[in-house]
Amino acid sequence: MAAQKQHDSLEKVAAEVRGCPLCKLSRSRKNAVPGEGQLSAKIMFIGEAPGKSEDEKGRPFVGAAGRVLDNLLEKAGIGRSQVFITNVVKCRPPNNRVPEEDEVTACRPYLDRQIALIRPKVICILGRTAYSSLLGGGSITANRGKIVERAGQKYFLTFHPAAAIYNKNLLSALEADLKKLANEIKKEEGKHSMEDYL
Ligand code: URA
Ligand code: SF4
Repeated sequence: MAAQKQHDSLEKVAAEVRGCPLCKLSRSRKNAVPGEGQLSAKIMFIGEAPGKSEDEKGRPFVGAAGRVLDNLLEKAGIGRSQVFITNVVKCRPPNNRVPEEDEVTACRPYLDRQIALIRPKVICILGRTAYSSLLGGGSITANRGKIVERAGQKYFLTFHPAAAIYNKNLLSALEADLKKLANEIKKEEGKHSMEDYL
């Protein structure tokens, strides 16, 4: 385990995910979706699971929810190179149902390895599935826009972009939240440059 960790990489995780047989979603997927982004990403976005477009392309957030997310990032001035985007489970559940507990549990080590490699300043939780699976949280509505610190890791909570497709009111909330997240990252970067003078 320790020896494996030393030589771990995002590419290695992705290759394992693409051939992963560890839960029943492996039997219905077309393509597993490991996630995308730079090792140096400051922010990790964690959604629920690949949908139809993602399953077809093997890439995260490339369908309707992805277009919402892209717009939100652009409006907040968050560049693609600053982020890593992935999901709680890496394979599409049939008919986009919510991932089941055994699937989330089987897939978790991949997510944990990605987090350990990237060491993001903030993990942005997109929606209820990621909230409950990463933090044991309940309602996103009651907690969105909040920063939570757990075991030295900062998490930022907001709605899933797909929710804004069904409810336009959520779109302005998401926009405000992502701007707040962008400011949080700027503050973190400010702290680091200040340390350079000390
Ligand atoms: N919804 C998600 O949660 N993740 C994706 O990658 C696409 C849609
Ligand atoms: Fe493996 Fe995760 Fe896909 Fe299940 S969802 S088959 S654990 S990669």
